[in-house]
Amino acid sequence: MIRFGAGLIVCLLATTIAAHGQGAGQESAADGASEGRTLFRTKTCVACHGRDGSRAIQNYPDLAGQDARYMIQQMTDIASGARMSGPDPRGFPRTQGMKDIMHLVTQEQRASIADYLSKLPAPKPRPLDPAVDSARLAEGKQAYAKGGCIACHGPDGSKPVPSYPYIGGMKREYLVLQITEIKAGVRRNSRVRSMLPFASKLDDAKIAAIADYLSQIKRNPD
Ligand code: HEC
Ligand code: HEC
Repeated sequence: MIRFGAGLIVCLLATTIAAHGQGAGQESAADGASEGRTLFRTKTCVACHGRDGSRAIQNYPDLAGQDARYMIQQMTDIASGARMSGPDPRGFPRTQGMKDIMHLVTQEQRASIADYLSKLPAPKPRPLDPAVDSARLAEGKQAYAKGGCIACHGPDGSKPVPSYPYIGGMKREYLVLQITEIKAGVRRNSRVRSMLPFASKLDDAKIAAIADYLSQIKRNPD
């Protein structure tokens, strides 16, 4: 059963209208990516992930500029139920709405969408509310270094390892949720297990500091 809430249906309608309303001129750039882009916009992804793979829903991940192979793996794992998450406010796993539609997207189409998204510029960091000062960011940076995260995720979450996710510049709420749920064993798909010994050493305060720090990293120069 598809469990879309009323809010999502409104979103879907709005994005459909927006997609039809776009001018042909805007579409001329990056023709090679047009198949992935069209699929992304017509397979309902935009309702949750935003028109350009970036959206203000704080606990949903940005996809613009993410690693393509990583994204294909996550799509596969969310579709199969191998990647799970904690509940949304209605009590369903946050992955559920996406799981319910992924059967509409073939493996080839997933690869095409991932290719398109990976080439989009990563979004700018969102200002935190309440704002954090530089001492707080330094505290997070230190916790990130001491936590051993750099070994796999690189300085500033810049991902030295092919097919690993970028984590610098992601939304604060999403980062907190993922680190917490990886630590708790709720998310244990794919290669997450390798991170468990590192995540399990973090308490909530350290997770919060690391998320504050990572969320403010700018991946692209202005
Ligand atoms: C109903 C909302 C919804 C829809 C529709 C949806 N997603 Fe998602 N997606 C999510 C949520 C929520 C997560 C993160 C789950 C979590 O917190 O563990 C996610 C995660 C992902 C991830 C993993 C990101 C990461 O950093 O780990 C990818 C890739 C992705 N979605 C791609 C897509 C694509 C492509 C589509 C369309 C075919 C799509 N999603 C449709 C809600 C949605
Ligand atoms: C031994 C390697 C390794 C170490 C060390 C490690 N991670 Fe990870 N991490 C991974 C892998 C691999 C994934 C992606 C798992 C997958 O492919 O499904 C991941 C995923 C993540 C994600 C989710 C990204 C997303 O888009 O959903 C976050 C956030 C994260 N790591 C943060 C951290 C932090 C913070 C630390 C330090 C405490 C850390 N990791 C240490 C390997 C590691």
